[in-house]
Amino acid sequence: MAAGPTVAVMTPLTSTARGTSPEGPLGGLAFLREAVHSFRTTGAIAPSSRHLAARLAAPLRPGGVRGPTRVLEVGAGTGPVTRELAGLLGPADRLDVVEINPRFVDVLERGLRTDRVLATAADRIRIIPKSITDVDLEPRYDVIVSCLPFTNFAPRQVGTILDQYLAALVLGGTLTYFGYLGTQAARRLFDSRAEAARHREVAAVLAEYAERYGSGSSTVWANVPPARVWTLRAPATRIHPAVAAPVTETG
Ligand SMILES: C[S@@+](CC[C@H](N)C(=O)[O-])C[C@H]1O[C@@H](n2cnc3c(N)ncnc32)[C@H](O)[C@@H]1O
Repeated sequence: MAAGPTVAVMTPLTSTARGTSPEGPLGGLAFLREAVHSFRTTGAIAPSSRHLAARLAAPLRPGGVRGPTRVLEVGAGTGPVTRELAGLLGPADRLDVVEINPRFVDVLERGLRTDRVLATAADRIRIIPKSITDVDLEPRYDVIVSCLPFTNFAPRQVGTILDQYLAALVLGGTLTYFGYLGTQAARRLFDSRAEAARHREVAAVLAEYAERYGSGSSTVWANVPPARVWTLRAPATRIHPAVAAPVTETG
């Protein structure tokens, strides 16, 4: 995976009198050290705000009758989006959470026991402590929320992961992901030419998928830094490569 020197400061599920909350105060030096230590995969200057978390989780909001829903979150960090998703889970819904960083996995697992919202849904949440590239996803997710820092990745890897998501979604399923505003301008100013070029290529890959599968995007200003959220829809039919004709999935 290509690296982008993005320093990260993320808020852990901090202890409070009411239990732990991802919206608590910053988690201190130990956490800052951890965030800096894993800057390549963390790729953030702050955990997502509840506004950004809510926008990412929007496909799960009640908008009519829905059956049991399977949700996948990738790159949970300290869990602000996990918590938002957990609060929206119905009794028959399931949330799988993939996180590569073992320190964040510890925070999440503790949160399942001690955070009020996460603990309430803990029986429906499964944490998978792996890189998404090492997870064999079954094609059964209605909603995927990706929090991966794509701009720190190699362009080809971004395409591979987006293909993995689209293959794991049920027909017509929804993917949301975000990127921070202004990163391209910052890369132009501060990065080497090679890094700036890699960043442009990643942007081109993301634009291509948004063009093909996008169903909307919006800006969340109440986040540090402000972010753009994209929504992609898996096609309602799959194109079978052998016959090059739409095939409707059964079962
Ligand atoms: C930008 S942070 C987002 C964290 C949190 N969801 C939030 O919104 O505040 C990206 C997260 O993706 C995780 N991550 C990076 N690469 C990953 C991979 N290949 N598989 C799974 N998680 C990954 C990082 O460890 C980090 O927790």
